[in-house]
Amino acid sequence: MSATVKPNPSSEASKKQQVEEMFDNISARYDFLNHFLSLGIDYSWRKKVRKIIEKINAKKILDVATGTADLAIELTKIKDTQIVGIDISRGMLDIGDVKLAKLNLTNRIVLQQADSENLPFENEEFDAVTVSFGVRNFENLDKGLADMCRVLKQKGSLLVLEFSKPTNPIFSRLYWFYFKFILPPLGRLLSKDATAYTYLPQSVAAFPEGEEFCLRAKSAGFSNVTYKPLTFGICTLYHCVK
Ligand SMILES: C[S@@+](CC[C@H](N)C(=O)[O-])C[C@H]1O[C@@H](n2cnc3c(N)ncnc32)[C@H](O)[C@@H]1O
Repeated sequence: MSATVKPNPSSEASKKQQVEEMFDNISARYDFLNHFLSLGIDYSWRKKVRKIIEKINAKKILDVATGTADLAIELTKIKDTQIVGIDISRGMLDIGDVKLAKLNLTNRIVLQQADSENLPFENEEFDAVTVSFGVRNFENLDKGLADMCRVLKQKGSLLVLEFSKPTNPIFSRLYWFYFKFILPPLGRLLSKDATAYTYLPQSVAAFPEGEEFCLRAKSAGFSNVTYKPLTFGICTLYHCVK
Protein backbone atom coordinates (compact mmCIF):
# COMPACT_ATOMS: atom_id res chain seq x y z
CA MET A 1 0.00 0.00 0.00
CA SER A 2 1.44 3.44 -0.93
CA ALA A 3 2.29 6.08 1.69
CA THR A 4 -0.33 8.73 2.41
CA VAL A 5 0.21 11.84 0.32
CA LYS A 6 -0.97 14.97 2.12
CA PRO A 7 -1.23 18.55 0.79
CA ASN A 8 1.34 19.70 3.36
CA PRO A 9 3.65 16.82 4.36
CA SER A 10 5.37 18.91 7.04
CA SER A 11 2.11 19.55 8.92
CA GLU A 12 0.97 17.27 11.76
CA ALA A 13 -2.70 17.71 10.76
CA SER A 14 -4.46 14.65 9.30
CA LYS A 15 -4.90 14.31 5.53
CA LYS A 16 -8.65 14.85 6.01
CA GLN A 17 -8.16 18.15 7.87
CA GLN A 18 -5.64 19.35 5.33
CA VAL A 19 -7.82 18.39 2.36
CA GLU A 20 -10.85 20.14 3.88
CA GLU A 21 -8.84 23.29 4.56
CA MET A 22 -7.27 23.26 1.09
CA PHE A 23 -10.63 22.99 -0.68
CA ASP A 24 -12.14 25.65 1.61
CA ASN A 25 -9.24 27.87 0.54
CA ILE A 26 -9.58 27.39 -3.20
CA SER A 27 -13.40 27.03 -3.35
CA ALA A 28 -14.08 30.49 -4.79
CA ARG A 29 -11.68 29.86 -7.70
CA TYR A 30 -12.19 26.08 -8.02
CA ASP A 31 -14.62 26.01 -10.96
CA PHE A 32 -12.58 28.40 -13.06
CA LEU A 33 -9.32 26.57 -12.28
CA ASN A 34 -10.85 23.16 -12.90
CA HIS A 35 -12.12 23.95 -16.39
CA PHE A 36 -9.17 26.17 -17.34
CA LEU A 37 -6.37 23.84 -16.20
CA SER A 38 -8.06 20.74 -17.65
CA LEU A 39 -8.67 22.65 -20.90
CA GLY A 40 -12.39 21.89 -20.49
CA ILE A 41 -11.95 18.13 -21.01
CA ASP A 42 -13.58 17.48 -17.61
CA TYR A 43 -17.02 18.24 -19.11
CA SER A 44 -16.77 15.24 -21.44
CA TRP A 45 -15.72 12.94 -18.57
CA ARG A 46 -18.77 13.89 -16.46
CA LYS A 47 -20.99 13.37 -19.50
CA LYS A 48 -19.74 9.76 -19.73
CA VAL A 49 -20.86 9.15 -16.15
CA ARG A 50 -24.27 10.63 -16.97
CA LYS A 51 -24.66 8.30 -19.96
CA ILE A 52 -24.03 5.22 -17.78
CA ILE A 53 -26.41 6.43 -15.05
CA GLU A 54 -29.01 6.94 -17.77
CA LYS A 55 -28.42 3.44 -19.15
CA ILE A 56 -28.73 1.69 -15.79
CA ASN A 57 -31.84 3.77 -15.02
CA ALA A 58 -30.64 4.95 -11.60
CA LYS A 59 -32.86 7.64 -10.10
CA LYS A 60 -31.80 8.07 -6.49
CA ILE A 61 -28.16 9.06 -6.59
CA LEU A 62 -25.52 10.01 -4.05
CA ASP A 63 -22.68 12.18 -5.37
CA VAL A 64 -19.80 11.80 -2.93
CA ALA A 65 -17.11 14.53 -2.70
CA THR A 66 -19.50 16.61 -4.80
CA GLY A 67 -17.45 19.81 -4.37
CA THR A 68 -19.25 22.61 -6.18
CA ALA A 69 -21.79 20.07 -7.52
CA ASP A 70 -20.77 19.94 -11.20
CA LEU A 71 -21.41 16.20 -11.55
CA ALA A 72 -24.65 16.41 -9.54
CA ILE A 73 -25.82 19.18 -11.90
CA GLU A 74 -24.89 17.05 -14.93
CA LEU A 75 -27.01 14.21 -13.51
CA THR A 76 -30.13 16.42 -13.39
CA LYS A 77 -30.14 16.22 -17.21
CA ILE A 78 -31.61 12.74 -16.67
CA LYS A 79 -35.36 12.80 -16.14
CA ASP A 80 -36.62 12.31 -12.55
CA THR A 81 -33.25 11.93 -10.85
CA GLN A 82 -32.96 13.02 -7.22
CA ILE A 83 -29.43 13.70 -6.08
CA VAL A 84 -27.80 14.13 -2.69
CA GLY A 85 -24.33 15.65 -2.82
CA ILE A 86 -21.98 15.39 0.15
CA ASP A 87 -18.58 16.94 0.77
CA ILE A 88 -16.34 17.68 3.77
CA SER A 89 -15.58 21.22 2.56
CA ARG A 90 -18.24 23.75 3.59
CA GLY A 91 -16.59 26.29 1.26
CA MET A 92 -17.08 24.06 -1.80
CA LEU A 93 -20.70 23.30 -0.86
CA ASP A 94 -21.48 27.01 -0.39
CA ILE A 95 -20.37 27.71 -3.97
CA GLY A 96 -22.43 24.69 -5.09
CA ASP A 97 -25.53 26.00 -3.29
CA VAL A 98 -25.26 29.35 -5.10
CA LYS A 99 -25.07 27.49 -8.44
CA LEU A 100 -28.11 25.34 -7.61
CA ALA A 101 -30.17 28.42 -6.70
CA LYS A 102 -29.17 30.16 -9.95
CA LEU A 103 -30.04 27.07 -12.00
CA ASN A 104 -33.33 26.46 -10.14
CA LEU A 105 -32.15 22.99 -9.14
CA THR A 106 -32.76 23.11 -5.38
CA ASN A 107 -35.71 20.72 -5.84
CA ARG A 108 -33.47 18.14 -7.56
CA ILE A 109 -30.21 18.34 -5.58
CA VAL A 110 -29.61 18.58 -1.85
CA LEU A 111 -26.08 19.36 -0.65
CA GLN A 112 -24.89 18.47 2.82
CA GLN A 113 -21.60 18.44 4.68
CA ALA A 114 -20.49 14.88 5.44
CA ASP A 115 -17.49 12.56 5.34
CA SER A 116 -17.29 9.86 2.67
CA GLU A 117 -15.80 7.49 5.21
CA ASN A 118 -18.77 7.80 7.56
CA LEU A 119 -21.82 8.44 5.40
CA PRO A 120 -24.94 9.61 7.27
CA PHE A 121 -27.31 7.31 5.32
CA GLU A 122 -29.07 4.00 5.88
CA ASN A 123 -27.89 0.78 4.22
CA GLU A 124 -29.05 0.30 0.61
CA GLU A 125 -30.56 3.80 0.16
CA PHE A 126 -29.23 4.65 -3.31
CA ASP A 127 -29.51 3.24 -6.85
CA ALA A 128 -26.11 4.69 -7.73
CA VAL A 129 -23.20 6.47 -6.08
CA THR A 130 -20.85 8.71 -8.06
CA VAL A 131 -17.48 10.28 -7.18
CA SER A 132 -15.53 12.52 -9.53
CA PHE A 133 -11.95 13.35 -8.57
CA GLY A 134 -12.70 12.65 -4.93
CA VAL A 135 -11.39 9.17 -4.04
CA ARG A 136 -7.74 10.23 -4.43
CA ASN A 137 -8.33 12.69 -1.60
CA PHE A 138 -9.84 10.24 0.87
CA GLU A 139 -7.79 9.65 3.99
CA ASN A 140 -8.82 5.99 4.05
CA LEU A 141 -9.77 4.74 0.56
CA ASP A 142 -10.85 1.28 1.75
CA LYS A 143 -13.18 2.73 4.38
CA GLY A 144 -14.64 5.14 1.83
CA LEU A 145 -15.23 2.35 -0.71
CA ALA A 146 -16.84 0.10 1.92
CA ASP A 147 -19.20 2.83 3.10
CA MET A 148 -20.23 3.74 -0.46
CA CYS A 149 -20.94 0.04 -1.04
CA ARG A 150 -23.03 -0.11 2.15
CA VAL A 151 -25.41 2.72 1.09
CA LEU A 152 -25.94 1.20 -2.38
CA LYS A 153 -28.90 -1.08 -3.15
CA GLN A 154 -28.06 -4.65 -4.22
CA LYS A 155 -26.83 -4.54 -7.87
CA GLY A 156 -26.44 -0.76 -7.53
CA SER A 157 -23.49 0.95 -9.25
CA LEU A 158 -20.62 3.05 -7.99
CA LEU A 159 -19.09 5.18 -10.75
CA VAL A 160 -15.71 6.72 -10.06
CA LEU A 161 -13.82 9.22 -12.20
CA GLU A 162 -10.23 9.70 -11.16
CA PHE A 163 -7.01 10.98 -12.69
CA SER A 164 -4.55 8.32 -13.82
CA LYS A 165 -1.15 8.12 -15.43
CA PRO A 166 -1.04 8.00 -19.24
CA THR A 167 0.79 5.00 -20.68
CA ASN A 168 1.82 6.28 -24.14
CA PRO A 169 5.52 7.19 -23.64
CA ILE A 170 5.47 10.38 -25.75
CA PHE A 171 2.18 11.66 -24.37
CA SER A 172 3.28 10.65 -20.87
CA ARG A 173 6.37 12.90 -21.08
CA LEU A 174 4.30 15.89 -22.17
CA TYR A 175 1.74 15.17 -19.46
CA TRP A 176 4.27 14.95 -16.62
CA PHE A 177 6.06 18.04 -17.89
CA TYR A 178 2.76 19.97 -17.71
CA PHE A 179 1.74 18.36 -14.41
CA LYS A 180 5.07 18.87 -12.64
CA PHE A 181 6.45 22.09 -14.09
CA ILE A 182 3.59 24.16 -15.54
CA LEU A 183 0.59 23.29 -13.37
CA PRO A 184 2.08 23.86 -9.86
CA PRO A 185 3.31 27.46 -10.43
CA LEU A 186 0.29 28.36 -12.59
CA GLY A 187 -2.11 26.80 -10.08
CA ARG A 188 -0.35 28.54 -7.17
CA LEU A 189 -0.62 31.88 -8.94
CA LEU A 190 -4.27 31.50 -9.88
CA SER A 191 -5.56 29.67 -6.78
CA LYS A 192 -3.44 31.64 -4.25
CA ASP A 193 -2.97 28.30 -2.43
CA ALA A 194 0.63 27.20 -1.92
CA THR A 195 0.00 23.45 -1.82
CA ALA A 196 -3.03 22.51 -3.95
CA TYR A 197 -1.33 22.14 -7.33
CA THR A 198 1.81 20.48 -5.97
CA TYR A 199 -0.37 17.99 -4.09
CA LEU A 200 -2.36 17.23 -7.28
CA PRO A 201 0.45 15.54 -9.30
CA GLN A 202 1.83 13.88 -6.15
CA SER A 203 -1.54 12.39 -5.22
CA VAL A 204 -2.12 11.20 -8.81
CA ALA A 205 1.30 9.52 -8.87
CA ALA A 206 0.56 7.70 -5.59
CA PHE A 207 -3.03 6.66 -6.37
CA PRO A 208 -3.69 2.89 -6.78
CA GLU A 209 -5.16 3.04 -10.27
CA GLY A 210 -6.41 0.45 -12.78
CA GLU A 211 -6.32 -3.20 -11.65
CA GLU A 212 -5.11 -2.20 -8.20
CA PHE A 213 -8.16 0.01 -7.66
CA CYS A 214 -10.43 -2.79 -8.90
CA LEU A 215 -8.95 -5.17 -6.30
CA ARG A 216 -9.48 -2.60 -3.55
CA ALA A 217 -13.10 -2.09 -4.65
CA LYS A 218 -13.71 -5.85 -4.64
CA SER A 219 -12.21 -6.16 -1.15
CA ALA A 220 -14.59 -3.39 -0.06
CA GLY A 221 -17.61 -5.47 -1.13
CA PHE A 222 -18.21 -4.88 -4.85
CA SER A 223 -18.83 -8.02 -6.91
CA ASN A 224 -17.92 -6.79 -10.37
CA VAL A 225 -15.49 -3.97 -11.19
CA THR A 226 -14.47 -2.77 -14.65
CA TYR A 227 -12.58 0.30 -15.82
CA LYS A 228 -11.97 2.35 -18.92
CA PRO A 229 -9.07 4.77 -19.45
CA LEU A 230 -10.21 8.08 -21.01
CA THR A 231 -8.29 10.73 -22.99
CA PHE A 232 -4.97 8.85 -23.39
CA GLY A 233 -5.39 7.46 -19.87
CA ILE A 234 -5.14 10.78 -18.01
CA CYS A 235 -8.47 9.91 -16.42
CA THR A 236 -10.08 6.53 -15.68
CA LEU A 237 -13.74 5.69 -15.27
CA TYR A 238 -14.39 2.78 -12.87
CA HIS A 239 -17.74 0.98 -12.76
CA CYS A 240 -18.20 -1.03 -9.56
CA VAL A 241 -21.36 -3.12 -9.19
CA LYS A 242 -22.50 -4.21 -5.71
C1 LIG B 1 -11.08 17.70 -6.74
S1 LIG B 1 -12.53 18.02 -5.83
C2 LIG B 1 -13.77 17.31 -6.84
C3 LIG B 1 -15.10 17.98 -6.72
C4 LIG B 1 -16.17 17.54 -7.72
N1 LIG B 1 -16.55 16.17 -7.52
C5 LIG B 1 -15.72 17.77 -9.14
O1 LIG B 1 -15.72 16.83 -9.94
O2 LIG B 1 -15.37 18.91 -9.48
C6 LIG B 1 -12.40 16.87 -4.50
C7 LIG B 1 -13.46 17.04 -3.44
O3 LIG B 1 -13.38 15.93 -2.53
C8 LIG B 1 -13.77 16.39 -1.26
N2 LIG B 1 -13.37 15.40 -0.25
C9 LIG B 1 -12.13 14.96 0.03
N3 LIG B 1 -12.15 14.05 1.02
C10 LIG B 1 -13.45 13.89 1.35
C11 LIG B 1 -14.11 13.08 2.32
N4 LIG B 1 -13.46 12.27 3.14
N5 LIG B 1 -15.46 13.17 2.40
C12 LIG B 1 -16.16 14.00 1.58
N6 LIG B 1 -15.57 14.81 0.67
C13 LIG B 1 -14.23 14.75 0.55
C14 LIG B 1 -13.05 17.74 -1.16
O4 LIG B 1 -13.54 18.55 -0.13
C15 LIG B 1 -13.29 18.30 -2.57
O5 LIG B 1 -14.45 19.09 -2.64
